[in-house]
Amino acid sequence: MSFDKRILCIGAGYVGGPTMAVIASKCPRYSVTVVDVDQGRVDAWNSGKPPIYEPGLDEVVRQGLGRNLFFTTDIARGIRENDIIFVSVNTPTKTFGAGAGLAADLQYWELAARQILEHAESSKIVIEKSTFPVKTAQAMERILMSRNDGIHFDVLSNPEFLAEGTAIRDLMNPDRVLIGSRSTERGLKARDELVQIYANWVSRERILTSNIWSSELSKLASNFFLAQRISTINAISAVCEKTGADVTEVAKIVGMDSRIGSKFLNASIGFGGSCFKKDILNLVYLCRVEGLEEVADYVERVVRINEYQKERFVLNMLTAMFNTLAGKKICLFGFAFKADTGDTRESPAIDVTRRLLEEHAEIVVTDPQALVSAREDLADLERGVSYVADPYEAIRGCHAIAVMTEWSLYRELDYRKIHDLMVKPAFVFDGRNILDHQALFEIGFNVYPIGKRPMSHF
Ligand SMILES: NC(=O)c1ccc[n+]([C@@H]2O[C@H](COP(=O)([O-])OP(=O)(O)OC[C@H]3O[C@@H](n4cnc5c(N)ncnc54)[C@H](O)[C@@H]3O)[C@@H](O)[C@H]2O)c1
Repeated sequence: MSFDKRILCIGAGYVGGPTMAVIASKCPRYSVTVVDVDQGRVDAWNSGKPPIYEPGLDEVVRQGLGRNLFFTTDIARGIRENDIIFVSVNTPTKTFGAGAGLAADLQYWELAARQILEHAESSKIVIEKSTFPVKTAQAMERILMSRNDGIHFDVLSNPEFLAEGTAIRDLMNPDRVLIGSRSTERGLKARDELVQIYANWVSRERILTSNIWSSELSKLASNFFLAQRISTINAISAVCEKTGADVTEVAKIVGMDSRIGSKFLNASIGFGGSCFKKDILNLVYLCRVEGLEEVADYVERVVRINEYQKERFVLNMLTAMFNTLAGKKICLFGFAFKADTGDTRESPAIDVTRRLLEEHAEIVVTDPQALVSAREDLADLERGVSYVADPYEAIRGCHAIAVMTEWSLYRELDYRKIHDLMVKPAFVFDGRNILDHQALFEIGFNVYPIGKRPMSHF
């Protein structure tokens, strides 16, 4: 079959896989190939059982597989045979050398750029889909320009705004699609080509175009704004606990101001995920390099409040449970960084587990999707943690429940039965404020929500 366009994506992860599956489903006349260095990941995609959990994803992938959606490890062939190349590789925080702990580690994208350079036999449009530091497109252009043989590469920035857990919905129905380009004739032509792809299902007024640097910076700025809201309401939750105010009431009142809005105002154990922390630290690094120390300090505070919230949670547990957690069994309800994903990257549960172990507590982890990742995250620990899929089994003989992830299943459990299975006095620390605290209190639990008065029988 001949296709109208041939699209390649380098990187079959949380972004590349779902995004390309949706493009293939919305554009049946385009061929969409996704390449990855990880054979296991590619095999999982090809089996129709994706390597990541995302509601609605399996179906979209199965529709496209073998028709116009292909997963492979053959990067050279992928580059040769496709004209439009998305780069959706990982961009973690650097752990070594200059900028360690702040800057993005760009070795994966640079390798991808060099592979494009090596294998391309015709001109290509290269699209930054990963979240890159501002000015990465320029560096990519410089690498790609080095061939000088008439083959031309037009680099566009097209950051992804999907949220894990709602990726398919977000991709099918995005608030906006952002495309940054050069304003040269070639740049604008490449931009229009990408606009055309999205216009297959996204209305034109939601497809925004900008200069390339605005596009790169807007992704970092969006994540800063979102994370800032979480850290702000979490800072307020600490004040609530000291003053007797209730953070849910405060958030509702504040959020009804239409200038503020009600989303992203849930107090919690803190944000996680692979993006917020690294993107904010990236912004901090950019500011420091540019000499904007005041701005860097302001931005960095958002991450610091997030760390503080996790530490506060553990200290609240310690204080409530008579100032010692040694030998006590604590069951973590959830390990994923949010509901409806199996992703545990930067999950608050990781830090909470490690801190509780320092207090010599024993940890039992339960989660409907993330137990495999949880084991990997804590693989260095020799003892003190067990993993149990069934929450009723997990809770047997525990002194406390700590809710880490807002899975809806935790709202529906039989808490009378759970109370019977636990050591008394039994405690609940609701790090997501999702449970019915009054009902738990009446069953006999001592209940410690975030940003609200504790309900204790003592
Ligand atoms: N996860 C999210 O919710 C989200 C949302 C928006 C943006 N982003 C951004 O998208 C980017 C990708 O994130 P992700 O969560 O999909 O990462 P990921 O780690 O799940 O996937 C990246 C994939 O790229 C592959 N890869 C790396 N180098 C390669 C190469 N040279 N050739 C082929 N494959 C290669 C890796 O094996 C991996 O499978 C990051 O920059 C991230 O910040 C992520």
